[in-house]
Amino acid sequence: MSSESNTPTSVDEAVTERPSEEELRAAHVDLGATREVRAPSPATDAESLRAAYLGLLKLSLCDLAGARTLSVSRAGDGRTPGSQVFSRELVGDELALRIKGADWPFSGLSMIGLARLDDLQSCVESVVAEGVEGDLIEAGAWRGGASILMRATLDSLGADQRTVWVADSFRGLPAPDADAFPEDRELDLSRVDFLAVPLEEVKEYFARFGCAPGVEFVPGFFDETLPALRDLRWSVVRLDGDTYESTWLALESLYPGLSSGGYLIIDDYQLIEECRGAVDAFRREHGITEPIEEIDWNGVRWRRASEPPRPARDAADARQVSRRLRDRHSERAVERSGQKPIPTQRELEVEYELSRLRRRHVSGAVRERLRRSRLGRWAAWLRHRAGRGGGG
Ligand SMILES: C[S@@+](CC[C@H](N)C(=O)[O-])C[C@H]1O[C@@H](n2cnc3c(N)ncnc32)[C@H](O)[C@@H]1O
Repeated sequence: MSSESNTPTSVDEAVTERPSEEELRAAHVDLGATREVRAPSPATDAESLRAAYLGLLKLSLCDLAGARTLSVSRAGDGRTPGSQVFSRELVGDELALRIKGADWPFSGLSMIGLARLDDLQSCVESVVAEGVEGDLIEAGAWRGGASILMRATLDSLGADQRTVWVADSFRGLPAPDADAFPEDRELDLSRVDFLAVPLEEVKEYFARFGCAPGVEFVPGFFDETLPALRDLRWSVVRLDGDTYESTWLALESLYPGLSSGGYLIIDDYQLIEECRGAVDAFRREHGITEPIEEIDWNGVRWRRASEPPRPARDAADARQVSRRLRDRHSERAVERSGQKPIPTQRELEVEYELSRLRRRHVSGAVRERLRRSRLGRWAAWLRHRAGRGGGG
């Protein structure tokens, strides 16, 4: 983690002047009606138990199963490199931010909210029920919550012959490549340490939920890893890499292998114009006409109707290639020296108040010093005059 990445240039600017990330997102999200925070009641039949298990899992992934839900906010518009993050509790209506997947969870394992998790579950159920061929992949997994749900849903249906692939750098977004992707010139998320979750930590989250078997991790930046997965057969492709570049690269490598009847799911299509730009350009370039369906205020998907152009490649072969590419040093990685503790909103406010008082105290002291030195100069001048016997 870079030392300056969590340090605001000016604390008062960070706390008082810029709109918070929540304010921006709130502009997109109606905080009114939300999906109920409820898991289905368990009963003795297998289907009710399955629904109850997945319902509870989704609440837990969103950190909506306990007494308090803590959120992480960015001071500023969130696009500013190194903008200050702080934690706060979501109270009352604000809980809608989490339910709708419009904030960053302090503890939760997915930031996509209940509606997008519900929809993901039903996409997985539908490809299994209809026998749509292929594995499932998420490109941009963060702490892994959405992929954990895909694995859990497959397991609950006995579909354990399908693999869930989890592609992420596990060290955050790469520094933008302005030459290759000028579309990202105003979106640099590479300095956001909060988005960098180490692979071992993510593996532990899968293990915690009993979802480690049947998962293939693909660590590294997409430009280095995803081409190795080209033409593997997919039934669900979920993209959540935010930028134009990450979305474009994932579409280029993964869409060719999406089965007919398979789902292409895109997070942040509505909120992040760079992501939307990549999807729209890719659809234009490839003549994709299947209608885009809205999942909620931010997620969309379509179901592929056409047949993939080439026969599926062997997953074992792709695994070998991707292993060879793994963990190559990338010059685009931002150096990080470990996660710093995230201050609470209160701590940040106290810091602001202290810096204001310090400034006031300093300017008071400076004024006093000036006054003294002016008085001193006058006294010296008067002494000098008195010595010369001069008068007023
Ligand atoms: C918004 S988060 C994903 C949220 C997650 N799907 C969830 O359920 O909460 C974006 C993730 O994409 C990853 N990412 C974005 N661009 C990438 C790239 N070019 N290569 C590798 N990982 C990338 C980041 O490391 C980060 O973990």
